[in-house]
Formats: sequence, C-alpha cells, structure tokens
Amino acid sequence: MRQSRVNKHNQSKKSNNVWKIIVMALISIITSSVIFLLYYQEDLAIIEKLSIKPSVEETVEQPVSEPEQPATVEEPPPAVEEEPPVIQVDAGGYAVQAVPVTEPTYIDGVLVASKKYPLPKDYHPGEQPEAKTALTQMLAGAKEAGYNLAAFSGFRSYEYQETLYQNYVNRDGQAAADRYSARPGHSEHQTGLAFDIGEQGQEDLWLTEQFGETAAGKWLMDHAHQYGFILRYPKGKEDITGYRYESWHYRYVGVEKATAIKNSSVTLEEYLGIE
Ligand code: DAL
Ligand code: ZN
Repeated sequence: MRQSRVNKHNQSKKSNNVWKIIVMALISIITSSVIFLLYYQEDLAIIEKLSIKPSVEETVEQPVSEPEQPATVEEPPPAVEEEPPVIQVDAGGYAVQAVPVTEPTYIDGVLVASKKYPLPKDYHPGEQPEAKTALTQMLAGAKEAGYNLAAFSGFRSYEYQETLYQNYVNRDGQAAADRYSARPGHSEHQTGLAFDIGEQGQEDLWLTEQFGETAAGKWLMDHAHQYGFILRYPKGKEDITGYRYESWHYRYVGVEKATAIKNSSVTLEEYLGIE
C-alpha cells in the first residue's frame, strides 16, 4: 500500500517535471521569436517590399512572354543616288566658272554645249562629217516631200560667236540677247553638230517662230529624228534649255537618241538627266 502511494507520488512528480519542461520550451521559443522580430524587423520590411506584386499598368507593359519574332532577313540599305552638284548660275542663267574649261563635256556619248556646259575656247572641230552627211540626206528627204530647205548657219568658231553675241547685246541689251543668242563658248554651233534651217524663197521667215507653223517647218519637225536631228529649243522649255523657242535650230545626236527624244517629247537636258 505504502509502495503504491510512493509510486503515485513519483508519477505525479514526473508529470510535473514534463509540464515544466514544456512550459520552459514554449517560453524560450516565444522569447527567441520576440528577440528575432525586434532585431530583424527592418530586413523583413525590405523582403516584404521586394515581394510586392507590380501594379496593373506595369503588368500590361511587361508581357509574360515575348511573342515569337519571325526570322528577318537583313535588307541592304537602299542605294543612295548621288545628287549631281548644283550648278551656280549668273543672271543670264550661265554657269559661274571659276576657271575656263579645258575639255568639252560628253554625257552618255553626247557632246553638250549649253549655258551650264561650256566648251573650251580653242574647241574648233569645224562642221562634223557625220552631222553634215545626215543634214544632206535630210534636205534631200525634204525636197522629195516638196520642201526646198536650206541650212543657213552651221559651224561657228568661238570668235565668230563672240562677235555675233556682242552685236545682239548692242542691239537688244544683254538680258534679251541671253534668251536667244549663246555667249561665246556656249553655242551648239561651236560643236559643228548644229544647223539653222529655213525654206528657200521664204527668207523673211528665217529665224522666226512662224517658220515652225509652215508646212516646211512642220515637215522638218516631224521627220528630223529619222535623220538623227532634234529640235533643240522647243516651245515652252526655256526654263530647261535656257533659250527661247527656235523653230529653225536643229542639233544632230544620231537616229537612236533623236528618235527616243522625239517619242518622249523631252529636251536634251531631260533626256540626259542634266540641268
Ligand atoms: N541661238 C542659239 C542659242 C545660239 O546662239 O547658239
Ligand atoms: Zn542655231
């Protein structure tokens, strides 16, 4: 009996001890948690901040996954067409030359003489045989068609053009002369490839716009390309050619080019793509 009471006493003592241990353990867990929180609350705040989800707008701007891009072939950059340099001109439309030219200008095989493209002072080819032959054939063709045409001006030297131009300046003033007479070194007549043409017996119409209204002048306009000639200064193209309409001035460029120019109704400048 006494033994059983002693056992019971021991058991209750043991159970008390277990409870003490549990309580102590709980107190130490709570205490260390409080200490931990006090020490690391700043860090926890930062961690909390970092885990904040982005606002709605931000999520819209940042898609979850990039849409797959199709493979692109790098195209070469478009070829940059080189712009020809702008030609500085004076009041008469003539290119301002720093130094006199020493060589004539050929563009696509065409000898160019204009306000913008001068010829050297000593360029003196005389009447060019190919152009002269073509002229003879053209006059023969006109005759067959019933028109008696004549070339009353062909090759002119630099010096002759100088005198001619000066006479026109003296008569009409430079501004007016610059619209119909080339300054020396700029006349197509100096190339030996140009001819002024009129109808024989109708000399009063030579060097006039009216010649272009006559049957003979119209025949020439319609057929010159077949012989390699172009009407060099057409009506309404003064801003491009630099000269007023000349129904009488024809320039040899060869049948192929003359036909292309005639069929597309362009000036020599437009055909060559120059100023
Ligand atoms: N009449 C033309 C433009 C010349 O003088 O050459
Ligand atoms: Zn002429």
